[in-house]
Amino acid sequence: MKHTLFAVASTVALIAGSSAYAEQSIVIGHALSPTSHYGLGADAFIAKLEELSGGEFTGTQAPAGQLGGERDMIEGLQIGSLDVVITSTGPLGNFVPEVYALDLPFLFRDYDHARKTLDGEIGQELLAKIDENQLVGLAWSENGFRHVTNSQRPIRTPADLDGLKLRTMENKVHMEAFSAMGAAPTPMAFPELFTALQQGVVDGQENPITVITASKFWEVQNNVSLTGHVYSPVAVLASPILIDGLTDEQKGWFYEAAKASAVATRAEVNRLEDAGVALLRENGMEVITDIDKAPFAELAQTAYKVYTDQYGTELVERIQAVE
Ligand code: PAF
Repeated sequence: MKHTLFAVASTVALIAGSSAYAEQSIVIGHALSPTSHYGLGADAFIAKLEELSGGEFTGTQAPAGQLGGERDMIEGLQIGSLDVVITSTGPLGNFVPEVYALDLPFLFRDYDHARKTLDGEIGQELLAKIDENQLVGLAWSENGFRHVTNSQRPIRTPADLDGLKLRTMENKVHMEAFSAMGAAPTPMAFPELFTALQQGVVDGQENPITVITASKFWEVQNNVSLTGHVYSPVAVLASPILIDGLTDEQKGWFYEAAKASAVATRAEVNRLEDAGVALLRENGMEVITDIDKAPFAELAQTAYKVYTDQYGTELVERIQAVE
């Protein structure tokens, strides 16, 4: 696995002339480019950590899936071969089942609803659940509302999805929803996606505008339908092996750095909600906006059943009730 190359992600080096402390360098892994919303979030994390620690901690980003797909990176945190990872919740439900609830389609009404939920009591409870699974949940950040792109035809109704080979994340709630909506979901790690689209292994994919622009999917896809079918949260995670070795003060710096990361990432999501759509058009994509979401939402109810049959309805109802 790629991340074994980085088996000792954190390096400790004595600062010349100082016996007071050792400088520790941490690596932040993520799937996107250094200038994407994740890249800006990683930079903000590093800047805050360096500022609060007075240089005791420094950091670098390992962008673009250099350390593997998101699922690999989460495993890397559990075994301590990685330090910090910025990841969508897509694969996180495989490790922390309660998190699947956040990935239910058409659950969050808008960005305010999602951010209020994640910044409030429910978000804190879910971070605590993450901590019970050999991971440390530092903060909630954001990927954005997801939309469908494809190379075959404009998608306006569920019938247009019929038989479309659509790459999804490795998330059973998403797969269930897309099957119910008529597509043929194909789970795949993100680092394989661009080539799969280019070679026609899959016809389409779904991701927020942030990702579609950062990945230049216009090179391999000509239609984007603003379905907004699911909100995609991001978790800023750390390895318990790193965090358990820190003092309380040092741990505090990591939590503050993760909050700064989320602020920077959400600001970029906000910026791209408008500017990104213009960029997609400029690069030749047909942007489909006249979509009636109700029939998609109705079919996606199957995914709720799959989730609630196993984990109950309480969490979903509490999220729906957040004003
Ligand atoms: O589609 C995915 O796998 C995720 O949305 C991505 C692009 C890796 C960002 O977290």
